[in-house]
Parts: sequence; structure tokens; C-alpha cells
Amino acid sequence: MKPIKVGLLGIGTVGAGTYNVLQRNQEDIRRRAGRGIEIAMVAARNLERARGIVGADCVVVDDPFAVVDSPDIDIVVELIGGYELPRELVLRAIANGKHVVTANKALLAQHGNEIFAAAQEKGVMVAFEAAVAGGVPIIKALREGLTANRIESVAGIINGTTNFILSEMREKGLDFATVLKQAQELGYAEADPTFDIEGVDAAHKLAIMSSIAFGIPVQFEKAHIEGISTLQAVDIRYAEQLGYRIKLLGITRRAQADGVDGIELRVHPTLIPANRLIANVEGAMNAVLVHADAVGSTLYYGKGAGSEPTASAVIADLVDVTRLATVDPYCRVPHLAFQPNEMTDVPVLPMSEIRSSYYLRVYVKDQLGVMADLTRILADAGISIDAVLQKEPGELQTRTDIIIITHQTREKFVDAAIARIEALEAVERKVTRIRLESLS
Ligand code: HSE
Repeated sequence: MKPIKVGLLGIGTVGAGTYNVLQRNQEDIRRRAGRGIEIAMVAARNLERARGIVGADCVVVDDPFAVVDSPDIDIVVELIGGYELPRELVLRAIANGKHVVTANKALLAQHGNEIFAAAQEKGVMVAFEAAVAGGVPIIKALREGLTANRIESVAGIINGTTNFILSEMREKGLDFATVLKQAQELGYAEADPTFDIEGVDAAHKLAIMSSIAFGIPVQFEKAHIEGISTLQAVDIRYAEQLGYRIKLLGITRRAQADGVDGIELRVHPTLIPANRLIANVEGAMNAVLVHADAVGSTLYYGKGAGSEPTASAVIADLVDVTRLATVDPYCRVPHLAFQPNEMTDVPVLPMSEIRSSYYLRVYVKDQLGVMADLTRILADAGISIDAVLQKEPGELQTRTDIIIITHQTREKFVDAAIARIEALEAVERKVTRIRLESLS
């Protein structure tokens, strides 16, 4: 059988990795896919650089539309990044009857519903394993490996940059700004790290996983997103003293508010018991923990970025598409795990309705009755205390930190309690609130 022909849009880090791994492992890949997979065309801004990577038989062009319009190309691999140009290119590739592989989580988080509907209509595949957690096959696991299960929750460290920063802050006792600067110098963090450090990248990935786990549309716009840029070194230290690590987690789970089913969809720094496996995922590594009714807990760990780890996921998709290209579209695995006419509209819950435990740090005047005030306010709000840590003030100090860990409660009760705590005469600063998940 003739090789299937692939057109790459972009040949940066991931594109070059894809080319190299396809070359290196071509024999095994051909034996698995049933036919060869050949990169026949590449669109790149820097033609010279692109020609230096690909072989002489590969056509190199500077116009990406020439790739998506080429009658010689069967699969378009979108590795450009961003939103609008990739959207246009992917929709045109689909309209031209081509299958698409993309690593672009931002594109799918924003335009996934439109893209999958167009692909469904045209009977082509859009594969996106590389869009979430790089080389970790979490899309395959959620969509196929766990297909017998009712998935209850997904919680993941799905941004390597922030995990690297948090690991460095904890291990070296440094503050956020210092570690970010080092991460940029080492090339771990982008020159503009906003999407990573503010949790947007993680929320893109979470919205995709939530859709596949629960059979709901991709709803990035409904995600609650908090990053790590305001996280203080002191809270990482206190968390450690209490037996926790702080991770930027993306969490999505089935929940209920006032007896009505809903979905939690949130990204924020989270205290996790230090003895959990996922709490020990350090550096730029990714991990996703899935709770499901039949299998119980499963954990997926690996490199969430980088040239060949991401290429590993791109090529897995290329093999899947190659195997299924000649199959009746109705026999293929649905893009979002559930058949398109079986998606549900269970609402994403507002943050006020989520349930969590909480770490509260209150900076107080060290005076009679403060602790009693705090515990009374929490009791009035129906919030049960799990642990308290009070730091002794220094010799001349008259202020101290009181740290309270609560049992599980609803976020709106904590909002109300914090407002009352901040109104106390003895409390002069905002209360620091970090959510805590036992993940048991
Ligand atoms: N910027 C991402 C991260 C990698 O730091 O994990 C690509 O998704």
C-alpha cells in the first residue's frame, strides 16, 4: 500500500521532533499502521531552516494554505499555535476532506465545538493527543481505555512551567519572581509566560479533558482560572509544615448544587497531602489522576512538553488516523468520546457552589480573643476546622500568622466567612485562601 501523505503546518520544536521520530522509527511505525506515513509537504516561515530539517523529497512552502489545499495531502498536522489562523486552516483542511492532527489546546478550547462539528459533518478525523499533557496518552486513556467507566473526576498537573516554578520555590525557599526569572533564563518559561503562570494553558487542557470525561461540550469560557503569580513562599512553607504540597491543579468533577447535577471546572493552586503520588510530581513533569467507578484511581505521568515527547503523541494520532482512514466514519471513536448526539448539557457550576477544603492564612494582631473570633465566625458559617497552626510572634512583634485548615465545605460559605474575618479590628490584611484537595 502507498504511504499516507502528511502535510505539516509549522516545523518548530514539535514539527522537527515529529519528522525525526517518524524517520528514526519508520519501520516499526509502518508495521503498526499498516502502511508508511510520509511527511510530503511542510509550510514554514523560515524556508531555509525547514529545508535543513526535512529530506529532499519533501516540498517546503511558505504558504500554509498551499498545504491544506494540496490534493496530494491526506492528513494535515497543525503545529502553528494561536487561535485565528489555525482555525481557518483547520476548517479549510476539513472542508477539503482532509484529516487533521493538532497539538493546539488553545484552538480546541476556544473553537473545538465548531471544529469537531465540521469534522463530523465531513466524515473526517481531528486527533489531538498532543494537545493535553504532551507525550502522556491521557486523551486515549480517557476516551478509550476508561470507556467502561463512569468517570467521577480528573485532577491534573498539566502545566510543566508552573510545576517547575513551584518545585523550585519549595525546594530552594525562593519567591515566585526569582524562580520565574531563572526559569526564563533556562528556557523553561516563555518570554511572555502569562498563559502558563496565570493558569490559562492548564484551563485549555482541562476544558478538553472535562468534555471527554463527562460527554459535555468544551467549555473553556466557564472555567475558573487562578494562576500562581500571587502565591507566596510563606504559604508553601506553612503547607509543608502541615504535611501538604502546593500544586497548580486543573480539577473537573461531577458534583451537585441544591440537588441538581453539575460539573466543577477549575484551575488554581491547591494543597495536596504530601504523601500522595501526584504531590511528588516535580519539575516540569505532568500527571493526571482519574477517579472512575469501575477501575478506581489511575494516574498518568510523563513529559508534558518538549520536542520528541510531544512528537510521540502527534505520531500516535497519525497512526490512529492512518489505520482508520478507510473505515466508515460512524465506526470511528467519537472525537469527544461520546457520540455527538449523546452529549449532555449538565451545567458547569459557578465557583460559589464548588466543594473543597481550605487553607486560610490570617495575619492578625496577637491579642486576646482573636482566635476565638476566628473560630466563632467559621462555626457560624457552618465550617468545621480540621487543623490550626499559630506561629509564635518574634520578641518585639505584635502580629502573627494563624493558619486554619477546614474540612470540606461549599465555597460560598468560605467567601462569607472571609468577609467577616477581614472586617475584624485585629485583621489588617486580606486573608490568604488556598483550596485543599485530599484526592483520596
Ligand atoms: N507551556 C506548556 C507547559 C507546554 O509549560 O506545560 C505546552 O503545553
